[in-house]
Amino acid sequence: MATKIIVELPGARDYAVRIGSGILDALGENMRAIDQLARTTDVLVVTDSNVAPLYLAQTKAALARAGFKAADVVVPAGEDSKDLAVAGEIWSAMAQLALGRDCAVVALGGGVVGDLAGFVAAAYLRGVPVVQVPTTLLSMVDSSVGGKTAVNLPEGKNLVGSFHQPSFVCADVDTLATLPEREWRCGCGEIAKSAAIDSDDFFFWMLEHAEGLASRDSSITAEAVQRCVVFKAGVVARDEHETAGVRECLNYGHTLGHAIEVASGFGAFSHGEAVAEGMRFAVELARNQGGVAEGFAEAQADLLDALGLQRLNVEASSADLLEAMKRDKKNRGGQIRFVLARDVAQWEVAPVSDDAILAALNGWGL
Ligand code: NAD
Ligand code: GLY
Repeated sequence: MATKIIVELPGARDYAVRIGSGILDALGENMRAIDQLARTTDVLVVTDSNVAPLYLAQTKAALARAGFKAADVVVPAGEDSKDLAVAGEIWSAMAQLALGRDCAVVALGGGVVGDLAGFVAAAYLRGVPVVQVPTTLLSMVDSSVGGKTAVNLPEGKNLVGSFHQPSFVCADVDTLATLPEREWRCGCGEIAKSAAIDSDDFFFWMLEHAEGLASRDSSITAEAVQRCVVFKAGVVARDEHETAGVRECLNYGHTLGHAIEVASGFGAFSHGEAVAEGMRFAVELARNQGGVAEGFAEAQADLLDALGLQRLNVEASSADLLEAMKRDKKNRGGQIRFVLARDVAQWEVAPVSDDAILAALNGWGL
């Protein structure tokens, strides 16, 4: 059983996200049915050193069955591979294989591989198609959809990149069976974020089924992925390039979350854990900045607790966290801007003064 969700974009750029169990085996067949890939022969699969032993052979076999000639590049697993030098090595490999404009890149892995391979595809010969095959919960519910691609600089994360929408997304939930627990919780953080921002329907469904998601129940997981993709597809359709004040909602929880990751050193907490803490803090800040609906903070806390995303014990000082927030990409005119949630699906992006943030941080007890 597979579900197909269409991301609707102007200029005949709509694409399908297929979500289901066992659908990796139909990857080549599904790609063949896409106009943009109908005449493609050469494909480069980009994956990482953890995912390659698990799913590369299966992926290449699925591509071969549909007549694709697939080469591969395996990058070291981890955030360090989102790097210009690694992108350069992949471009060189593509040039040595004499891949032309009719080739395609397949990103097989989590958000690191998706962002890196998407960026490689966006720039090679000024742009070739990319197909996203997400294998982490986070990449299924967020990064594989929406076309943001990037590499990091020593100065910060995702500072160089472009929007390059995939031609197709294939999310085979069976691949999640091998995902480590920490990465599972990381994806749960992004699911909680989407549920809180999207609608009462998603939020209260997720609250009811949080323990099932935390314990990796397959039908609850598949439905959570579908709901997130429907939500994200809607956001991207309304504000593809984050210029209409809509897509910024996807940064809910990320302002403090990202600051915690930077100030504590990447890896001290998972991204999802840090985002969950950021969601709790954003509601506290909203309480001080105009108020929140009764019961919302408690319901959100119940959801995060049930997903195993507990309050964090952060050692970084309030001043260090504020300093890290000052480099947030949402800031304008030097002012920090927060996604403030006032209730389920009731959010706004608002500037908040440094003093107000510091006061809230000091009272927060991280
Ligand atoms: P990741 O890609 O590093 O994957 C996490 C770990 O899981 C890695 O060690 C990976 O090798 C391993 N892994 C992947 N699939 C596996 C599987 N099925 N079984 C076993 N191990 C597996 O991390 P992530 O959390 O998927 O993505 C994080 C990245 O995504 C960050 O770089 C972030 O900036 C980016 N991101 C991008 C967007 C976007 O819109 N483009 C959105 C959110 C996050
Ligand atoms: N994950 C943030 C975005 O896609 O905009």
